Amino acid sequence: MKTIKLYKGGKYSICSCGLSKALPFCDNAHREFNVKNGTDYKSVKITVEDTVEAELNSANWKR
Ligand code: FES
Repeated sequence: MKTIKLYKGGKYSICSCGLSKALPFCDNAHREFNVKNGTDYKSVKITVEDTVEAELNSANWKR
């Protein structure tokens, strides 16, 4: 579980694959993994209407 502050008007890409070195954010590590493994991981896009503190989690996040 990652707790982060998301700011009003911000656009965020959240990692769903667990390979990003910048968790919880996507660093595009999924692209190379998808090519090598035939998978279709994509980041989850979030647009924030109000500044909030959010708890995010993914079954693929190991750290
Ligand atoms: S690095 Fe995990 S979805 Fe992009």
